Amino acid sequence: MRLLRLTGALLGLSPVLAAVSQQAYTWKNVKIGGGGGFIPGIIFNPSEKGLAYARTDIGGAYKLNADDTWSPLLDWADDARWNYWGVDALATDPVKPSNLYLAVGMYTNSWDPNKGSILRSTDYGKTFTATQLPFKLGGNMPGRGMGERLQVDPNLNSVLFFGARSGNGLWKSTDSGATWAKVSSFTSTGNYIQDKTDTNGYASDIVGLSWIEFDKASGTSGKATPRIFVGVASNGTSNVFMTNDAGATWTALPGQNTQFIPHRGVISQAERSLYVAYADGAGPYDGTLGALMKYNITAGTWTNITPVSGSDLYFGFGGLAIDPQKPGTVMVASLNAWWPDLQIFRSTDGGATWSTLWNWVSYPTLARNYKIDQSLAPWLGTDAKGPTDVSGTADTKQAGWMVESLSIDPFDSNHWLYGTGMTMYGSRDLLQWDAKHNVTLKSLADGIEEFSVQSLISPPSGPSLISAVGDDGGFVHTSLTTAPTAFFMNPMWATTADLDYAGNKPTNIVRIGNNAGADTKQVALSTDSGVTWQQDYGAADGVTGGKVAFSADGDTVLWCTGSNGVMVSRYTNAFTAVSSLPSDAAIASDKRNNSIFYAASGSKFYISTNNGVSFTATSAALGSSTSASKVVVHPSVTGDVWVSTDKGLFHTTNSGSSFTAISGFTQAWAFALGAPKTTGGYPAIFAAGNYNSVVGYFRSDDQGVNWVQIDDAAHRFGSASANCITADLRTYGRVYIGTNGRGIFFGDVSGTAPPPTSSASSTTATATATSTTTSRSTTATTTTATTTTASTTSRSTTSVTSTSTSSAPAATQTAYGQCGGTGWTGPTVCVSGFKCTVSNPYYSQCVPS
Ligand SMILES: *[C@@H]1O[C@H](CO)[C@@H](O)[C@H](O)[C@H]1NC(C)=O
Ligand SMILES: *[C@@H]1O[C@H](CO)[C@@H](O)[C@H](O)[C@H]1NC(C)=O
Ligand SMILES: *[C@@H]1O[C@H](CO)[C@@H](O)[C@H](O)[C@H]1NC(C)=O
Ligand SMILES: *[C@@H]1O[C@H](CO)[C@@H](O)[C@H](O)[C@H]1NC(C)=O
Repeated sequence: MRLLRLTGALLGLSPVLAAVSQQAYTWKNVKIGGGGGFIPGIIFNPSEKGLAYARTDIGGAYKLNADDTWSPLLDWADDARWNYWGVDALATDPVKPSNLYLAVGMYTNSWDPNKGSILRSTDYGKTFTATQLPFKLGGNMPGRGMGERLQVDPNLNSVLFFGARSGNGLWKSTDSGATWAKVSSFTSTGNYIQDKTDTNGYASDIVGLSWIEFDKASGTSGKATPRIFVGVASNGTSNVFMTNDAGATWTALPGQNTQFIPHRGVISQAERSLYVAYADGAGPYDGTLGALMKYNITAGTWTNITPVSGSDLYFGFGGLAIDPQKPGTVMVASLNAWWPDLQIFRSTDGGATWSTLWNWVSYPTLARNYKIDQSLAPWLGTDAKGPTDVSGTADTKQAGWMVESLSIDPFDSNHWLYGTGMTMYGSRDLLQWDAKHNVTLKSLADGIEEFSVQSLISPPSGPSLISAVGDDGGFVHTSLTTAPTAFFMNPMWATTADLDYAGNKPTNIVRIGNNAGADTKQVALSTDSGVTWQQDYGAADGVTGGKVAFSADGDTVLWCTGSNGVMVSRYTNAFTAVSSLPSDAAIASDKRNNSIFYAASGSKFYISTNNGVSFTATSAALGSSTSASKVVVHPSVTGDVWVSTDKGLFHTTNSGSSFTAISGFTQAWAFALGAPKTTGGYPAIFAAGNYNSVVGYFRSDDQGVNWVQIDDAAHRFGSASANCITADLRTYGRVYIGTNGRGIFFGDVSGTAPPPTSSASSTTATATATSTTTSRSTTATTTTATTTTASTTSRSTTSVTSTSTSSAPAATQTAYGQCGGTGWTGPTVCVSGFKCTVSNPYYSQCVPS
């Protein structure tokens, strides 16, 4: 065994330098309820009643509360640790239940530059310490629903085993997860690859080891458990292995099934048996055949107990559970039975006989042996579609798909949970299955907010929030604290890519869909704030995705499509190409003047004054920017526009004739304007970006001169560049952050405002100006070997060297621009119609005279 000492804690460390003033905010999820994404793992602790966790593939992990709600555990993951939200495996310690371990990392291909980590907690996930592994993990990769591939030895809890992907084999820790070494005696690394031809490396990687199961009764407390089973994602060769000497030597179990991949292995101690569920793919979307096998540990023999055969077997098996309190009670789920519905099988005699969740009465009538309860997430609805089901034809599925996780509470035979591709179902009446063959399927993903949010708008009237989300369309949020009753319907697309409202008629909304390859039109219009929709028949079939902007009067749709360049349509006429804009343009509509649109690409800014038919680049450039992120327009002032780019944040008040580069920002992504601090004042500004070498979320109440940071150590929102922001135009300070995997947050100012951090100066980039040049480190992650907690997580903000090269100041400052203040070297005279007024010692502004 090669011992490899790995890095210690990754979280936290150096004291936080006050690089930016902090404004306390109260952050809460906008309640959608019902999860909204795949739940690949639900794990009960076998020793502490009521202790359970759920893991997700893009939104971190959650802990179950006594009232059946869930609390998130990884909201502290920041931009540098966004990949922690891909949880590939989870283990709860059977000996010391307060110990929790997560194997985190999102992708093994280039999409994720970071190595994987094992996070360990001694306080039920309140705080974590990280150990980085020498390879990547794939929390959002093929085979993520198999498991669990991380386990704690139930006899000696300092020992953990972890089954890796990518050919990296089996790993072991003997110090409670602090350090890890490869188990060289275990030679199988898995031969299964989902799609060898996938050139982006996603489906072409080795799925690897799939699960680990300790046979507790083979050992005694205080000594390493001798017998351990390991499942491997292989077909055509051995894939279930056993050691009887705590991992020193391993053998393939004779007589095993080599046709299929073992997804889950569960030991029934009372029966001295190992149950293994198999499918012919790694999941989570596939599976057309499979088996359920039972291994008699005493006799060393396998029995095939697959509950169905012949034409009734058209799926693989995923979720697998036994009831430890009722020997012989076992349940297994179809991984994907896309039609007519998920099937779940239950046996109370060790697999000799089975009963089903539903059965045919006479085709096409189903007897559903359950009552569905979607009260906590009414939008789940009876006609909720699966991700492959976009045709609009009637969908018979209610109970789910992608079911890899199914668990029975070890302390309560009535309590069970299973995860689907969209939510979590379960109940506390499972014994009714046996008593009257009828149970409750209640959506119990309360608190799990897993949506991948694509876009958000907060129109000035009507509902204050409308969302575009992946997989389930999007929602009109009439309440931030109550789950919506419906998602966007008619037309219904799995993913809504973007939304916009018409500035002069804010109940008029446009949305675009992203059903890749769909032979349908992907533009829809609403005149009632998104309650009802009409297809825009001007859209061509099969054109999808991208970004959209709606003209101020709602008659023109400008669409930067995902694959067909920029197109425009007025009065729902056929969309025509806008050849004057590059296909990567960020676009926006003026919110007052119906004929004006704006765009940015690279360092260029464009304006159209003819309803988007043609654009011209303005003379002023966006500094040295090479890619524009967002163009955001003042809600009521024509020509007042902000642009975020890979080089910072830029502001024009004259339709792009000149730009001010906002000092301190070296990179900016999502951006929004919200209600002003004082009535009639300039809107509050919200930006996600790198400001003074801090990657975070910032607010300015004075047009970008002074900034406060509004995210905190407990709320970092994962990948900053993947998130979207909108700000409430009616409530000062309220901002909505849409995440990639943790749903939507809304934040409100709490406590008093600190003195903001002032930018040293603004740099004016005029037609002849060169831009701000800054040399700053971007995200910096420090590493020490000490144990630190999540709450101290912070980015190191060591000395920042900033060099700013300003152009010669223009003689007069533009409307609303800065015209004075400590350190100000720019123009002190305002354009005609504006006068320079002192706001505070640091800032004077050109306001209307
Ligand atoms: C393994 O599974 C793949 C994908 O389903 C299949 O193409 C291949 O034939 C299988 N190999 C064996 C040896 O069964
Ligand atoms: C396992 O095999 C042993 C020996 O043949 C037998 O006594 C026992 O009943 C079997 N267990 C189960 C659960 O079938
Ligand atoms: C199960 O119970 C529900 C609710 O009482 C009922 O609607 C449903 O028809 C029952 N299923 C069967 C097959 O009787
Ligand atoms: C809108 O902008 C166009 C182009 O600049 C201009 O000709 C027109 O007068 C503006 N309309 C209004 C109502 O201000």
